Amino acid sequence: MSKVNDKRIQDRITKLASEVNELRFRYHVLDDPGVTDEIYDSLTQELIEFETKYPQFRLKNSPTQRVGGHPLEKFEKVKHLHRMLSLTDAFGESEVQAWEGRIKKILPDEKFDYFCEVKFDGLAISLRYEQSELVVAATRGDGFVGENVTANIKTIQSVPLDLSAEGGSAFGGEVRGEVVMTKQVWENLNKQQEKEDKPLYVNTRNAAAGSIRQLDPKITASRKLQFYAYDIVTDLGLRTHQEVHGKLKALGFKQYAYQKHAKNLEEVFKFFHEIEKMRKHLPFGIDGIVVSVNNLATFKRLGAVGKAPRGMIAFKFPPEQVTTVVEDIIVQVGRTGKLTPIAKLRPVFVSGTTVSRATLHNEDEIRRLDVRISDTVVIQRAGDVIPDIVEVLPKLRTGHERKFVMPRVCPICGSEVSKKAGMVDYVCTNKYCFAKQARGIRHFVSKGAFDMAGIGPKILDKFIEEGLIEDAADLFDLKEGDIVPLERFAEKSAVNIVAAIQNAKKVTLPKFIYALGILHVGEETAFDLSQRFGSMEKLMRASKQDINAIPNIGEVVAESAHNWFLRRRNQDLIRRLLKAGIQIEKIKVKHTPLTGKSIVVTGSLEKLSREEAKEAVREAGGDWVSSVSKNTDYVVVGENPGSKADKAEKLGVKTIDEKEFLKLLGR
Ligand code: IVH
Repeated sequence: MSKVNDKRIQDRITKLASEVNELRFRYHVLDDPGVTDEIYDSLTQELIEFETKYPQFRLKNSPTQRVGGHPLEKFEKVKHLHRMLSLTDAFGESEVQAWEGRIKKILPDEKFDYFCEVKFDGLAISLRYEQSELVVAATRGDGFVGENVTANIKTIQSVPLDLSAEGGSAFGGEVRGEVVMTKQVWENLNKQQEKEDKPLYVNTRNAAAGSIRQLDPKITASRKLQFYAYDIVTDLGLRTHQEVHGKLKALGFKQYAYQKHAKNLEEVFKFFHEIEKMRKHLPFGIDGIVVSVNNLATFKRLGAVGKAPRGMIAFKFPPEQVTTVVEDIIVQVGRTGKLTPIAKLRPVFVSGTTVSRATLHNEDEIRRLDVRISDTVVIQRAGDVIPDIVEVLPKLRTGHERKFVMPRVCPICGSEVSKKAGMVDYVCTNKYCFAKQARGIRHFVSKGAFDMAGIGPKILDKFIEEGLIEDAADLFDLKEGDIVPLERFAEKSAVNIVAAIQNAKKVTLPKFIYALGILHVGEETAFDLSQRFGSMEKLMRASKQDINAIPNIGEVVAESAHNWFLRRRNQDLIRRLLKAGIQIEKIKVKHTPLTGKSIVVTGSLEKLSREEAKEAVREAGGDWVSSVSKNTDYVVVGENPGSKADKAEKLGVKTIDEKEFLKLLGR
């Protein structure tokens, strides 16, 4: 091919790429498509064709390269150049005034003006650009180290891959913003999930987060996410936060229309109320506004408290309040032995998520609210905390409500509880109580038992400590909304945790028995018990002698198991597990070449005894039969075979030797 021709093709590719990118920008960033979809599609198509034919001319950041690559195994960790902070919440104007009071006290001579913008309810992402090129996109993680989700972020059409066209000279630095999903897209996604029998996303935030946490970028691409940029953490010599937004816009980042410079708090409040009125009609979820000290030098001088900058605040919409019923009051024992009463609620949707628990703090709080079991109560979720009970609605009482009394012995270990004079909290006197509880639940989720992938000790300890779970059965009641407030520590999203738990509901009987953590009942014994009794009900009714009669099970083990099943608390646990929908499966047979085949063995084998061969065939999903017929699939011929080998020959049944047999068994 001639040089001239080459040059022409290269030119055409460059022009097409630049035009497609320009159209993308108009459509996805400015929400103002310049041309019809058909034109956009046909230019893109032509570009793809050229690039396929002449890959040597494809531009590195070609708009065709957004969705590509293979699904990842896992997300790598990335260290942020600058820590990703969070914001302090303020509810109501008085809390915002108090905030202004604090910063004015720190810098008394300063004149403050503010910048207001909506607070998106999505997933925070940091984008690192080098030489104007997007190199890494990461989630917040713990603020210092996040997860590398670059391939997924690239699929978001409003994220610029290359800033050179827009921003002029080479840009390097980190841009922060929020990935969001519109309510419309979320609804359609859930319809699709429902059709495919997949779990629904409880709100747009979880859907956005769940879509970014996909290992396959093609899935993320299908989720139609958007990215709104709100900060540049690199010093570009800009003076105000308002200028930062101007710069972001100039660099080609999508900006939300509702932003406002406010001279004082009065103007901030006005903006807040305008946004609050519009909230319902906005295409995506927001949970308040973000108010920043506009002057960046002042902002910097104010510094940070803990994880939050002093010069910025999340002015949140008032927490939603809903009514529900207290189904029970249980007591949770924390790491320090402290007993916390927890209300188990009829699950209810509040502030975007379903919750099933509320903390009652201590006995005094229960007395103050006069909350009783079966009461109808008002709950609210304020910010990132487990819901509080605000008040009881006594008019709805029927007379069947029960008062709660703090137990005198620890509900976990049975030790005495004590309360020091002048203190509000009861404490379990057994200092190993928490550890015992934690150990039991860890065992329950472990590999040989329910095998809940990814639910490690850290997560479980936190759940116990927060009063979300007290025993293994509680795991199955967890709702995403219960976990969301704790999510930051856990790295795994609430959606994934709940899914992992729900997906573990099917177990074999031996695994179920093993999971109970009965003293002396290991995997082998659990297997023997399951073989002998065949069901949980039968095992629970078995006498000590019945159990002891099983070969391999001695008196000590029999006694331990029998006593375990006698205890009310344990019976209750099993009842609750079954009620939660645990499905006990027939022992899973492996899928092998022998599955569904009928097998006869004749003669003796070198590697396996007859019993072992029988078990191996069954485990492999085959049928062990004793006589040869034309329906027999294989006759395994060992040493000194009997007449069965001859019969097989006559009937034309396939005969195999031990070596082949072992191979079919996968050994
Ligand atoms: S500024 C110090 N602006 O809210 C972090 N954050 O609660 C300041 N968010 O981590 C970030 N909309 O995920 C900022 N317009 C906005 C925001 C916003 C949503 C999120 C962001 C942040 C969290 C803090």
